[in-house]
Amino acid sequence: MFLKNFWYIAGFRRDVGATPVRRLVLGRPVVLYRTPQGEAVALEDRCVHRQAPLSLGAVQADGAIQCPYHGIRFNPDGACAFIPEQTRIPRDARVRAYPTLERGDWVWIWTGDPALADEASAPAYPWFARAGWKTRTAHLHVKCDYRFIVDNLLNMAHLPFVHPRTIGGDGVVEDAKVSVTRGERSVRLARRMYDVEPPPTYRKAGGFTGLVNRWQTIDFMAPGCFEFHTGVIETGHAPLEPDFDAPKPNARVLDRHTMHAVTPETEGSTNYYVGFAYDPQDVSDEMADFIFEQTYATFQEDVVILEAQQINQDLTPGERTIDIVSDAAGNHALRILHELEAAQG
Ligand SMILES: [Fe+2]
Repeated sequence: MFLKNFWYIAGFRRDVGATPVRRLVLGRPVVLYRTPQGEAVALEDRCVHRQAPLSLGAVQADGAIQCPYHGIRFNPDGACAFIPEQTRIPRDARVRAYPTLERGDWVWIWTGDPALADEASAPAYPWFARAGWKTRTAHLHVKCDYRFIVDNLLNMAHLPFVHPRTIGGDGVVEDAKVSVTRGERSVRLARRMYDVEPPPTYRKAGGFTGLVNRWQTIDFMAPGCFEFHTGVIETGHAPLEPDFDAPKPNARVLDRHTMHAVTPETEGSTNYYVGFAYDPQDVSDEMADFIFEQTYATFQEDVVILEAQQINQDLTPGERTIDIVSDAAGNHALRILHELEAAQG
């Protein structure tokens, strides 16, 4: 079951152009394209005539898309504009049109009731709009239910086991001060680690030699969006809070803002978007590239586990699992998703 009345990332803005692209979003085929007038369009990728994918067709000068099979054209609002060899347009000749929103590097899509498509409810990820901030973005396709990714991102106890070469480190688990706060549709997981060894990626990128204080503040916004504020600072200085306008302490610090957003593709596959943003005062282009490469490799390590989890779940449907203490935040998130599913009916 998918939660429909939310904004999801459909793709990168740079991928939505004059050539139509097909995506599966919440189990349904969607064609994305940009009209010559510059509007990002999302339509059902299924001609209502004989089900041919419109994404194999061509965008017209007026912004309509032409079906590749019999040349029927649909306007950006989904209404049929033209049928060869006839003048009458049948009343049912229309495909679903989905509201879109361009924000950050992404085109967002709303697959639920268009009347409820409130743009303010899409995550802001404001750092991606900051002049001069260094950003890096990536997409991963993961063959798992999106809930496994939600659960992964809210249980940091996996870091030393899955990611010992990059962002893991012994101090992450044993010494963390953890708080978990649930909102109506949100969860905040805050972890603070004092006087720990810097993990390998931070040591190499930030030039830390001694011990550090480390923070991870993770905000989950149902159904699948996250803001991460993470970093390390020389020991003796307080971990930073998520307020990115606060003055920086006079200390060696690596301060990271990361977005994660998952878009269910099918019940067993997910499009997973990540983005990093750095204050240019803190991070050079080379450092931003280095951290991006390291962290992208980290996510590939997660993908191995996530896809293996899905295989086991498919082999043993309904069999019980247990929870451990570090599941607290993830369990809140999964409960929120469950509540939203029940409310959607
Ligand atoms: Fe991970």
